Amino acid sequence: MAATPWPGCTGWDASAGCPGFNAPAGRGEKHVDEAAPARYAGAMSDDSAFKIFIVTAPGLEPMLCAEARDKGFAEPRAVKGGVTIQGGWQEVWRANLELRGASRVLARIGAFRAFHLAQLDKRARRIPWREILRPDVPVRVDAACKGSRIYHAGAAAQRIARAIGEELGSPVSPDAEVTIKARIDDDLCTVSVDTTGEPLHRRKHKEAVNKAPMRENLAALFLRRCGFEGTEPVVDPMCGSGTFVIEAAEIAAGLAPGRSRSFAFEKLASFDEAAWQRLRAEGGADGEAKSAVLFHGSDRDAGAIAMSRANAARAGVAALTEFTQQPIGALVAPDGPPGLVIVNPPYGGRIGDAKDLLPLYQTLGRTLLGGFSGWRVGLVTNDAALARATGLPFGPPAAQALHGGLRVTLFLTAPLA
Ligand SMILES: C[S@@+](CC[C@H](N)C(=O)[O-])C[C@H]1O[C@@H](n2cnc3c(N)ncnc32)[C@H](O)[C@@H]1O
Repeated sequence: MAATPWPGCTGWDASAGCPGFNAPAGRGEKHVDEAAPARYAGAMSDDSAFKIFIVTAPGLEPMLCAEARDKGFAEPRAVKGGVTIQGGWQEVWRANLELRGASRVLARIGAFRAFHLAQLDKRARRIPWREILRPDVPVRVDAACKGSRIYHAGAAAQRIARAIGEELGSPVSPDAEVTIKARIDDDLCTVSVDTTGEPLHRRKHKEAVNKAPMRENLAALFLRRCGFEGTEPVVDPMCGSGTFVIEAAEIAAGLAPGRSRSFAFEKLASFDEAAWQRLRAEGGADGEAKSAVLFHGSDRDAGAIAMSRANAARAGVAALTEFTQQPIGALVAPDGPPGLVIVNPPYGGRIGDAKDLLPLYQTLGRTLLGGFSGWRVGLVTNDAALARATGLPFGPPAAQALHGGLRVTLFLTAPLA
């Protein structure tokens, strides 16, 4: 189990715990491009490095930073809302394919000062659009303005869209999969292309979902924060659609999370199908699912168990997973070595009322304290009082994140006595 979730990552004050940035609050990572007038890492040829911004749920940046470091990405740095790395198009593709904790990958294509719309229009035209976009693929432009003389996001988006249209001829459409994102912050305009499209938590294995499913990228980062490295069994006794169990099995089997889906970068000018297929093959995208340990889910709801089995089969990890219909009180530890119990019970205020949920959390605690000696427990909830009601020996909150509009906290124990 890793001592901290973020060794070796810069841009984050690990001593301050999680969350806590050493960058000034609200300023994110914009200082990096401060001096650049329409600079864009010397045209995006294969070997030129540029900045890549990997988005994740606010609060989980240090864990994603650690994942990016483990996966060998250059100069990972945790910043507000995500992680920056340096790289070229191959790294953009690989980040989309391999990073379980990411929700989106943005390639930085320009940064310049713009004090008024005419200047924005002129400088946006200096971006080498031909190297980035295809004239036959529709594009959409989203803009956001904060603390800047240009304050009308719609007008800013329209100027950039017009610049693209006139420089390259790409059709502009509000439904386009390829999106240019411009952020004007303190008169500094940073322009990125969204290389992902549909958010990365959509792995395309989970067709069936129950109420309040955990997003796959959050589940993966919570597993990481619990010290899970793919070598120990995992139990989720309220598994819903099976997210934690399936993510854990995929991690153990070394399967790439993006192996079954397409990405917006496949529609960019820089895309090279042969190089992409080589990268997928190298990254274990089509590997066979093997693991020395099994991953267990249970739920009292028969529909949830049917969904979990179908989702695991689609993910190619049916042989590594076991799903059982049973209430929490009937849970027993699987034979073999101890591992990790990870669970997000129904939330107060979302599916049920906190007071009504007390007995459920108490039963969960009793069951685990009585039968799971040697196992660690990770519990994700929006209510610290419910976590306390389990009687489990949790340390201080291990991570916090926004999930579906709720602030959820991961509580974590050491191995139970
Ligand atoms: C918030 S959902 C879990 C979502 C899941 N992590 C996912 O990603 O789909 C809570 C689950 O707890 C289950 N549950 C509620 N009470 C239970 C009980 N007494 N025993 C077992 N499962 C229960 C519900 O059926 C529901 O699927």
